[in-house]
Amino acid sequence: MKVLLTGGAGYIGSHIAVELYSAGHTAVIADNFVNSSPEAVARIEQITGRRIPLYEIDVCDKTALSELFEKERPDAVVHLAGLKAVGESVAKPLLYYRNNIDSTLSLLEVMAEYGCEKLIFSSSATVYGAPKTLPITEEAEAGGCTNPYGWTKYMIERIIEGAAAANPKLSAVLLRYFNPVGAHSSGLIGERPNGIPNNLMPYICKVAGGELAQLSVFGNDYNTHDGTGVRDYIHVVDLAKGHVAALGYCSDHTGTEIFNLGTGTGYSVLDMVKAFERANGVPVAYRITPRRPGDIDACYADPAKAEKLLGWKAELNLDDMCRDSWNWQKNSSDGKKA
Ligand code: UFG
Repeated sequence: MKVLLTGGAGYIGSHIAVELYSAGHTAVIADNFVNSSPEAVARIEQITGRRIPLYEIDVCDKTALSELFEKERPDAVVHLAGLKAVGESVAKPLLYYRNNIDSTLSLLEVMAEYGCEKLIFSSSATVYGAPKTLPITEEAEAGGCTNPYGWTKYMIERIIEGAAAANPKLSAVLLRYFNPVGAHSSGLIGERPNGIPNNLMPYICKVAGGELAQLSVFGNDYNTHDGTGVRDYIHVVDLAKGHVAALGYCSDHTGTEIFNLGTGTGYSVLDMVKAFERANGVPVAYRITPRRPGDIDACYADPAKAEKLLGWKAELNLDDMCRDSWNWQKNSSDGKKA
């Protein structure tokens, strides 16, 4: 299948592009490079040995998107384009609602116009808010998000559900990611946060690499085995393969289906620090600081539904995640950032 990746030059999209080619599909990338770079596409081409059609457009721009569809006629779309910084979304809520929701509406309208009926959406475990029970199944109540970014994911899910309910030919898969980390084993593509990272693994990498002095561990009084926050970290290559599996599912089903993409195992912040040090033989300096507002004790997936219906499960372990994150950090701190 020819698959349009909106936001395809980003961290997750670039890994999906590589896995699509490995599985015999092709990709078209649309990206406005607000949080990514054309260099990432060159790197995907280097890994796959294929030339990838690239459109520098804003997905909110319906005219530009229609031109892309006219030319490329994609069979399916993986919709990843969107703003994603939790803190920024609190400071600029209208920007987040406008950008993330407008782009989805434009995409759904243009897909309908061109009869493109397979859509995979990049959602997030953030839609579960503070989970009442663990592990989290897809039946757990969604909503109760703690920031506008999370609400955009929640609202977009409902918009897509509505579109699929109204169009019996549409097949939509909503993938709720847990905490993606790691990078492609080549070290050519990976996560490139703007400025000082908000997320744990990129922060650990920069401390290990000497770019930042020490990690702040946000709270050690959570209700977890060592008091620090527990999350379900998933290797980005496993996550990318989940999208390829979802594409297969879309081909045989219509309507909307929701899947968690996680490993099912939770690790604490200190587990992650120790694992990184062990896997890479480098020290990670840290200190305990107060809790970060909005953080929850623990969040990890029940990934059984994805295994049952998609035939997918995460295969890479914590050592792989730490090793590949560090390999990427070492390769990308030379100024040639992808
Ligand atoms: N943490 C630290 N220090 C840091 C950064 C993070 O101690 O410098 C801790 C957090 O308190 C938390 C854990 O590390 O316990 C993970 O934090 P991240 O910021 O890496 O990830 P979150 O779980 O907070 O959020 C991520 C994504 C969101 C997404 C959410 C889904 O950033 O986009 O997972 O659950 F919505």
